[in-house]
Amino acid sequence: MSKPELIAGIDMGSGQLVCAVGRRNPDQDQIEVVGVSKQPCRGIKGGVVINIDETALSITRVVESVEEQCKETIRDLIVGIRGSHTQTFNHHGAINIARTDKEITNEDVAQVIESTKAVPISTDREIIHVIPQDFVLDRQQGVPNPVGMEGSLLEVEVHIVTAGTSHLNNVWRAINNAGFGIREPIYGLLAVGDIVVTQEEKDLGCLLVDLGGSTTGLAIYTDGGVKFTKEIPIGADSITNDLAHGLRTSLSQAKMVKEKYGVAIRPAKKKVLVTSAGVEEEFDPEGDVTYTSVDGRTQRQVQRGTLYEFIAPRVEEIFTMVKSEMDRSGMEEQVVAGGAVITGGGSMMPGLINAAEKILEIPARHGLPQNITGLPEALSHPSYATAVGLLAFQSYGDWGRSHKYARKSSGGIFENMKKFLSEVF
Ligand SMILES: Nc1ncnc2c1ncn2[C@@H]1O[C@H](COP(=O)(O)OP(=O)(O)O)[C@@H](O)[C@H]1O
Ligand SMILES: [Mg+2]
Repeated sequence: MSKPELIAGIDMGSGQLVCAVGRRNPDQDQIEVVGVSKQPCRGIKGGVVINIDETALSITRVVESVEEQCKETIRDLIVGIRGSHTQTFNHHGAINIARTDKEITNEDVAQVIESTKAVPISTDREIIHVIPQDFVLDRQQGVPNPVGMEGSLLEVEVHIVTAGTSHLNNVWRAINNAGFGIREPIYGLLAVGDIVVTQEEKDLGCLLVDLGGSTTGLAIYTDGGVKFTKEIPIGADSITNDLAHGLRTSLSQAKMVKEKYGVAIRPAKKKVLVTSAGVEEEFDPEGDVTYTSVDGRTQRQVQRGTLYEFIAPRVEEIFTMVKSEMDRSGMEEQVVAGGAVITGGGSMMPGLINAAEKILEIPARHGLPQNITGLPEALSHPSYATAVGLLAFQSYGDWGRSHKYARKSSGGIFENMKKFLSEVF
């Protein structure tokens, strides 16, 4: 039996850092999460580093805290990138097989994928993922693995993720200043999608919504792979702001009230059971919630049902934006079968999934990490899902000196390609 490999991921969230450490057992291809920690970070905003020193300090803190938890030393970090500077698009590549034998080799596959990187992108951007979606051999679509087959024209459809070069460099600086090495950059939205969305949902077609603090990410999967992603610069922190105004209290009090008592469900006359992430609790709309007013001393009360009045318009605004992005993608019909999978810290609010379902007009469910073992805390709160997803996201990348970024197969028909591609790259 081989020794489990220790891996650590850091999610550069929209205003916080989340670090997760796991052991990957190579025999079972299974991840066990052994540590997670969350740290607010004033050095990042919307996933973008705005202050390197502050960010480096928070990185040190969050990593030290998980090191303590799992009694291990961490040297390198897999880095989850996010923010509106990330952009994705679909692209196409083709090569002619000029040899006489015409048998497709691993090298041909590597070459056709590589050829897609010749796409013109602006000089301030870099490609971080090239995700093969579909191979086409002599005009025959849907070839899962062309190696060993015969053909003279090999084509590939890919999904390309790019990120702003200066944003990436600032992230690398912060991580290096904190004394850690970088294993590879991964688009955080894809990492969370990989563990909360099932392969069946990806095959059927579905929408992933990651409701974070100051950003909301959405990804559309069809035919087993990701086809569209978008980051909307608004998230669940806007609900906190609304509550702070409405209740005339501080942001920290408003956040506490929101996370403990907030509901996105229209209050009925009597007590009802509400569900947040599979946990049921009683919701009494007339029950009082006590908080401290903005002066920091006066105790005030508000009925829990009243919180809904402050919360509902924002939830509606966010999901209306998600819906219009979904419609704009032109793939709105294709996500109906698999429905929406909603994750991120904001998805914890009772009633939110139902509210989203109504606005998006497709069935929705709550998304938590699947097929991962370890700390229950890490697996039951969606705030940790991206960091945990980084551990499971297997790329056959070659991040390092060459600055050749990771490539990743999105599973399904590409699962079996992992092995041979890893031999090539
Ligand atoms: N139990 C909860 N109920 C409602 N909102 C929550 C809850 N827990 C966290 N949140 C909210 O989720 C947001 C953070 O989401 P998260 O995915 O952790 O952040 P990030 O954007 O950094 O990825 C914050 O607005 C936070 O207040
Ligand atoms: Mg998140």
